[in-house]
Amino acid sequence: MEHEVRAEPVNTVAGSAGLVVVSNRLPVRLEEDGTGSRWRTSPGGLVAALTPVLRGRDGVWVGWSGQPGHVRHPATHEGIALHAVPISDEELDDFYVGFSNGTLWPLYHDAIRSPSFERRWWQAYVTVNHRYAEAAAAAAGHGATVWVHDYHLQLVPMMLRGLRPDVRIGFFLHIPFPPQELFVQLPWRREIIEGLLGADLVGFQVPGAASNFSRLARRLTDAGSAEDGLHHDGRIVRVGAFPISIDAAELEARATDPAVLARAQGLRHDLGDPQVMLLGVDRLDYTKGIEQRVRAVGELFEEETLRTGEHVMVQIAVPSREDDAHYQAERDDLERLVGEVNGRFSTVGHPAIHYLHRSVPFDELVALYLAADVMLVTPLRDGMNLVAKEYVTARTDATGALVLSEFAGAARELRQAILVNPHDLDGIKGAIRLAIELEPGDARSRMRRLRRVVRNADVYAWAQSFLTALQQRAEIVLP
Ligand code: ADP
Ligand code: F6P
Repeated sequence: MEHEVRAEPVNTVAGSAGLVVVSNRLPVRLEEDGTGSRWRTSPGGLVAALTPVLRGRDGVWVGWSGQPGHVRHPATHEGIALHAVPISDEELDDFYVGFSNGTLWPLYHDAIRSPSFERRWWQAYVTVNHRYAEAAAAAAGHGATVWVHDYHLQLVPMMLRGLRPDVRIGFFLHIPFPPQELFVQLPWRREIIEGLLGADLVGFQVPGAASNFSRLARRLTDAGSAEDGLHHDGRIVRVGAFPISIDAAELEARATDPAVLARAQGLRHDLGDPQVMLLGVDRLDYTKGIEQRVRAVGELFEEETLRTGEHVMVQIAVPSREDDAHYQAERDDLERLVGEVNGRFSTVGHPAIHYLHRSVPFDELVALYLAADVMLVTPLRDGMNLVAKEYVTARTDATGALVLSEFAGAARELRQAILVNPHDLDGIKGAIRLAIELEPGDARSRMRRLRRVVRNADVYAWAQSFLTALQQRAEIVLP
């Protein structure tokens, strides 16, 4: 999604907000290209989910601008007041690239890549978390609700409680929370759990993550079981699962817009009017299983289940965390693999795989969802995966098929998808064959049920249920 945002003076609403959202990134980031710099919508599920929810509320969003140091940023984005937290170049290396994405991200995603444990990174994590806690404390009005998001900021709840005992604190983790066996590798495991226990409500995508956290809290701290959560330090900390979702009504509106429908037809035409178009849309991340998917598609071309001209795959890979060596390696490997498959199976004018390494505007993304007969969502591990929910919501005529990894949080809700183990290459191939051959009546009935699931649990219901649970925190302070 790309939006340009007008640069306005820094906002001055600190200290009066009733609702403060705190996340590593602001919903806009400053991107530099050859022609200068522009503010664009930040990529990823967190921003996609929170923006519509906050748009209708009188809140403040505290986060980082995407550039080092103090940056003059837009005062608002889609009517939401923005409050930037400065992060230096060195802190970005240690806090963001280092501890957040080199330690926590791989550890929380089944250690798909080996997490690194660097003491310098941890120090930066503590320092920067404290800065976010101070910024949230400065923005919040008396008795405000502060909603802290994601793995970058797990110490903020406890730090904020120290600064502002009057505010209600919610924390939501967008990514998986690992099982004990993995989490206990972390040298700072107790500090992270205690940081989270500073919240009144700690929310996760799925119940398994919530129970991993509760078990670890009981093991590593003096927290004990309480109804709906834990008691710790004389307080009740509620713990629960709140599966995140999308703005389904808005997406349906885009998907039925005549210009978007025409663009979908145009895309199919540009692709040579194939019988079947397969689509993948992901941030370019090693957790997303893009390589396994491309490998499976390559083998299906080799076996002539897929035939160039009749079948085509489109893979959109949104650039992400490009300063990290794992991500650079993932990009190199993927591009080599796509090149190999295309080298072997493309014909002049008919590539087997169209690969785009860039972000696309939202309407173009919706047109791609509408054009695709089969959506491939095969992460090795994913907190939720909003792309899966977006695809089924866009299919207003109930056609199309979703191949979905068992290891995405979305698989708990989207049971009518073709579920697959993303590590099992033959399994992915079988799922693609099944998706292509699905009898139209079966495909429609699956898609109708998938669509109903998302419509009945959209992002507004998610935010409402989290914020309602947060308001209902136990008022009783234990002796
Ligand atoms: P993650 O948060 O790990 O990136 P999700 O699937 O949960 O994964 O969320 C991705 C979000 O980013 C979706 O809302 C999707 O619409 C958006 N998105 C993905 N690819 C693109 C793209 N190429 N251009 C614009 N937005 C994209
Ligand atoms: O959902 C995982 C997540 O880290 C979100 O916090 C964010 O929306 C997205 O991935 C993008 O990551 P980054 O902020 O590192 O570019």
